[in-house]
Amino acid sequence: RYKVDIINGNNKLTVEVERGKRLWDLLMENKIPVQSSCGGHGTCGECRVIMHPVKQFNQLTPAEKKFISLQDTQKGYRLACTIFIDQDMEVIVPEVNKDAKILSVGDEKEIELKLRVKKINVIMKRPELDDQRDDLKRLEYNIGRIKSVPNVIRKLPNVLRQNEFNINVVIRNGELLDVVSPNNKSLYGIAMDIGTTTIVAYLIDLNTGKQLDVYSNLNPQKPYGADVITRINYTITNPKGLEDLHNSIIDEVNNILAYFYQKNGINSNDIYEIVVVGNTTMMHIFAGIPCVNIANAPYIPAYTKELEFKASEIGININPNGYIVMLPMVSGYVGADTIAAIIASGMYESKEMSLLGDIGTNGEIVLGNKDKMVSCSAAAGPAFEGAEITFGTVGVAGAISYVDLNSDSIYKTIGDKRPPIGICGSGIVDTVSELIKKGIVDEAGKMHKAEELEDLLEPRLLKRLVEYNGQVAFVLDDSTGIVLTQKDIREFQLAKGAIAAGINILINELGIEAEDIQKVYFAGGFGNYIRIESAINIGLIPKILKDRIIQIGNAAGVGAKMALLSNDYLKLALEIKNKVKYIELFAIPEFQIEFMNAMYF
Ligand code: FES
Repeated sequence: RYKVDIINGNNKLTVEVERGKRLWDLLMENKIPVQSSCGGHGTCGECRVIMHPVKQFNQLTPAEKKFISLQDTQKGYRLACTIFIDQDMEVIVPEVNKDAKILSVGDEKEIELKLRVKKINVIMKRPELDDQRDDLKRLEYNIGRIKSVPNVIRKLPNVLRQNEFNINVVIRNGELLDVVSPNNKSLYGIAMDIGTTTIVAYLIDLNTGKQLDVYSNLNPQKPYGADVITRINYTITNPKGLEDLHNSIIDEVNNILAYFYQKNGINSNDIYEIVVVGNTTMMHIFAGIPCVNIANAPYIPAYTKELEFKASEIGININPNGYIVMLPMVSGYVGADTIAAIIASGMYESKEMSLLGDIGTNGEIVLGNKDKMVSCSAAAGPAFEGAEITFGTVGVAGAISYVDLNSDSIYKTIGDKRPPIGICGSGIVDTVSELIKKGIVDEAGKMHKAEELEDLLEPRLLKRLVEYNGQVAFVLDDSTGIVLTQKDIREFQLAKGAIAAGINILINELGIEAEDIQKVYFAGGFGNYIRIESAINIGLIPKILKDRIIQIGNAAGVGAKMALLSNDYLKLALEIKNKVKYIELFAIPEFQIEFMNAMYF
């Protein structure tokens, strides 16, 4: 056995390990946050750690040589997923930036509360020698017959007598969830959007419908894969893969709840319902349901209907009788988050033709109106979320998110943090758009070398065209060496082509023209921050729709909140599920041609 000292920020952990254990697995098992997005396959180059003693760890594997420079090798940098432990060692794990963007949710509708959970006051007649009704029967006399479980009945005798038969009862859909003192009027719920990259949770006071708090963080499953396919593959190739992914999301949800409880002075027992939305794979993993068949044709999920079950069944720390409500999904690649976004956008009640796009790792697209809706999922890959891009990053503080080649500073970062840490999705869209405008990148996506542009380009931009690992690249930041390479542009073209082709296929499916679309809703983190002008310039959506675009923020989260606050919206989610037709793009013969054409800028 070997001794491994792990240093992560101010924390130090020492573990004893058997020979041959992989360092990446050890870090994951000990819940040390590691930057990673390929599931430990040695292909993302993100799981950098510093090894001591440096001299004993300076032999890189061929996979590592692609990602670690000679200079960094001398400092002890290695990739954790390539190291098998065969000696004592000290490992420094760089801290992961978890400071994710919190989306503003824009103007939200006033919702009439139609809660499933109610807390009501009941004053009962005391038992007498000539009134021998049992406690539960006495309660039912006042509120009607009710489904009751032992752990509530267990509390009932004491709560009744401590409060002189004047108590508050919590009822949900004809089930008694709790009995408490009449002073306890607290009633809270949580709405949650579990995205592949980000989780957003809202704490809601169900008595008033008001949002008390919001929390947004990166999905802790990211090290297992940046996209859903890599994560599903992790569940296939690792015997405990599904369990690992499931546990990591459950732990994170419990952390978020603990944060809410502490910050807002709330008791976990006063939370009675959590409404969850997310893409189909995230919904499966959250509930601990196998998702393997979503990854391969014909892409069949285990279920798509709505699910309601006790939170305690999966170890979620709310009231022991509280419920998880998971909204329904359309298909393996159009999930509950899309249904929630449809609800939030209001497109389901309008006669106008609307297009809804939630562009992330998968671009879920819905086109239609109150009579008919079609949807598809364009496998955009993670480029829009910054993965597979040489200096890509998710949208966290310090990410380059805005680029303007006419200004001197040429870029802005999220939170104005310097130095920049990489480029996020909206930054990539901006950079490509600006490079096209300046003629540096042509319609086919080719980035020209400096010598080809000598007569056309201002010297200050010309000097930014460099060679990077044998490719042409454009330098965004000198101090850190952050560049966008030709290969990045090719990756990006695939992502952009998939989305644009998906939109065209849906337009054809409904037999309309692009100009018939009256409103375009851009949802999600990326959709919220993208510059419309750049999205149009790169041909992500048809030019004619330029003035019809509305950025609606985290629409999936808003839809989840609506379903928490009113049972009408939960019923609506079921109606929408049945109304939306799913088009599998790979089954459409024209898709390949549309895709090839749509890759052009
Ligand atoms: Fe190690 Fe991706 S390269 S986790």
